[in-house]
Amino acid sequence: DFHAIIPAGGVGSRLWPLSRAEAPKFLHDLTGTGRTLLRETWERILPLTGIDRIMVVTGRAHRAAVERQLPELTPANMVLESEPKESSAAIGLAAAILHRRQPDVIVGSFAADHVITDADRFRRTVAEAVAVARTGLITTIGITPLEPSIGFGYIHCGAPLEIEGAPHAELVDRFVEKPDLETATQYVRSGDYLWNAGMFISRADRLLDELARTQPELHEGLVEIAAAWDTEQRDDVVDAIWPMLSKIAIDYSVAEPAAEEGRLAVVRGDFPWDDVGDFSSLAKLLSGGRPGDLAILGEGARVLADSSSGVVVSQSQRLISLIGVTDIVVVDTPDALLVTTREHAQRVKAVVDAIKSAG
Ligand code: GDD
Ligand code: MG
Repeated sequence: DFHAIIPAGGVGSRLWPLSRAEAPKFLHDLTGTGRTLLRETWERILPLTGIDRIMVVTGRAHRAAVERQLPELTPANMVLESEPKESSAAIGLAAAILHRRQPDVIVGSFAADHVITDADRFRRTVAEAVAVARTGLITTIGITPLEPSIGFGYIHCGAPLEIEGAPHAELVDRFVEKPDLETATQYVRSGDYLWNAGMFISRADRLLDELARTQPELHEGLVEIAAAWDTEQRDDVVDAIWPMLSKIAIDYSVAEPAAEEGRLAVVRGDFPWDDVGDFSSLAKLLSGGRPGDLAILGEGARVLADSSSGVVVSQSQRLISLIGVTDIVVVDTPDALLVTTREHAQRVKAVVDAIKSAG
């Protein structure tokens, strides 16, 4: 009765010019394994569900790329969006479709763009979360925070839960999505908070109940689309309703309010987890944490380096040479070149915003 949902829609703008609207983060190999993050996500979940029980939600523009990555994906499990409407709509639609097909289904949503190196431990944690979700709680996975990142949700744990098959489950008494730096610093210092790993496991009916309470119009639209999904009316109904849906992340529509009502649980994950949100994290990931290293990503990359550290991503055939530069970030693609340092890697998003507004 467990069905996975992979929402694959974010752009990953802090990884520009590697990650683009046409080739977003989840379609890249960031680990040097030759497999894209989407493919790795799929393979990590597969043993828990089987091929027929993984649904992918992505933009129409990415259809061909996703099919190439996941040739086994059943057409009934591919949900295509005409435009991105953020995670509540993406995950909510998948949950509503699956709920119609099977009313007692438990769904788990798993971001398509994370790096998790210990798949066995990951699956053990998810199995615990499914046991918790069976009791009706919305369940998240929490990771011990390493630094006061402002890109994550923070979870304040409450009482331990006594649920068979879930020894690491606790009730959540507060969920705070992306606090400011000062708040995040306090949270991490206190030792009482976990990072939200961006995975939500819940009975589909319970997830839809939460949406109905906090986002009634969005919920109504999703239920109408789901009712038409497996019929010939699908395209007409989608075209009429999808553009009207409000854009909101599931962390705001479900996680924060459910925590306030005492209906959110967390299972502590003990697996290595990385969101690889920017090039500094990529450098750290690829060099295995050795700060003096120069990490190189790219098939057939040609790099000559002397006394240099940081990361080089090469997608062109150009020879790249570095001399005496520390913590550098060089990302070379056929039509755009980025040079910055690890310290400023977070600011790449501002460049992308500037390009966008310049048209
Ligand atoms: N299909 C589809 N359509 N997927 C989407 C859309 C959309 O419009 N928008 C976002 N997603 C997908 C992303 O591809 C990703 O798999 C997931 O939903 C989460 O969206 P992100 O945009 O990556 O969220 P975030 O990283 O800012 O924050 C979330 O993840 C953090 C962990 O990485 C939150 O859940 C945080 O609380 C969490 O800490
Ligand atoms: Mg993310």
